[in-house]
Amino acid sequence: MIMKKKIDISANINGIKLASCIMNASGVLCTTEVDLNKLIVSSSGAVVTKSCTLKPRKGNLEPRYFEWNMGSINSMGLPNLGIDFYLDFLEKKNHQKPFFLSISGLTIEENYILLHKANLSSHISAVELNLSCPNIIGKDQVLGYDFNNISKILENIFKFYKKPLGIKLPPYFENKHIQKMAFILNKYPISFVTCINSLPNGLFIDINKETVVIQPKMGFGGIGGKTIKPFALANIRQFYTYLRKEIPIIGCGGICSGEDIFEHILCGASAVQIGTQFIKEGVSIFDRLRKELVHLLQKKKYTSINRFIGKLNVF
Ligand code: SIN
Repeated sequence: MIMKKKIDISANINGIKLASCIMNASGVLCTTEVDLNKLIVSSSGAVVTKSCTLKPRKGNLEPRYFEWNMGSINSMGLPNLGIDFYLDFLEKKNHQKPFFLSISGLTIEENYILLHKANLSSHISAVELNLSCPNIIGKDQVLGYDFNNISKILENIFKFYKKPLGIKLPPYFENKHIQKMAFILNKYPISFVTCINSLPNGLFIDINKETVVIQPKMGFGGIGGKTIKPFALANIRQFYTYLRKEIPIIGCGGICSGEDIFEHILCGASAVQIGTQFIKEGVSIFDRLRKELVHLLQKKKYTSINRFIGKLNVF
């Protein structure tokens, strides 16, 4: 009998060990107790919460999410149950899976308060600080584009915050912007970078009704899904080039198949997050993607994802 070699798709994010490199993206089916329980028992490698604020929020008016075959548009407006709910949930829940608390304060000061609270929890594996939510009404600047302030914010954070911290970034469209952001991030003990969040300021139109498809912000929102994969890959690749090698990248954007995961890893991702396609398929997606990835690695004769992280060839 021919024994198949075991394929290792585990990930190590600065000491946080994930049995599988595939997890949910913040925002997708991870807001309520029911959502989080489903993620815990699924084969996702970690649980990432909906980005939370200090107080619970209902979010923007509906319809606020729309999907088509190539992608999705959303302007959710951070509907979440408030940080205390997520910290309490963890306090009560005894489970082994790494748990990433995503936070997205409405102001910089609110982010500091959230981080103070997270600092006290012994149950979170890391905070993923979301600097990239494009959907808050009345706030036009995505923090991740505010190059002048990021350094100061991180400096303040690391004066008091002692747990692992990852940063979720918006997509950048110029190499020099990625270089600049990486230069800033490299100065701080960041545990990981997640890129990319949705492409901000998109518009999708229903040609029959001649209308926009979501209500908030006159129909403008963040674009996700298949259509954004090339931007995700480019951001991962360039951050992989410019970030210190001690800062792993979690790739996010446009993953629908095991091959997409392979591409993210080849560009430099150590793990990946699934957004739009997770909404479409539900938690069974983690099994499907794991099988597809393992099958591809068998075909390519790789025994571990570690063998090809960042090993993209160029001409
Ligand atoms: C939202 O709740 O509006 C989406 C969050 C995000 O894109 O970061």
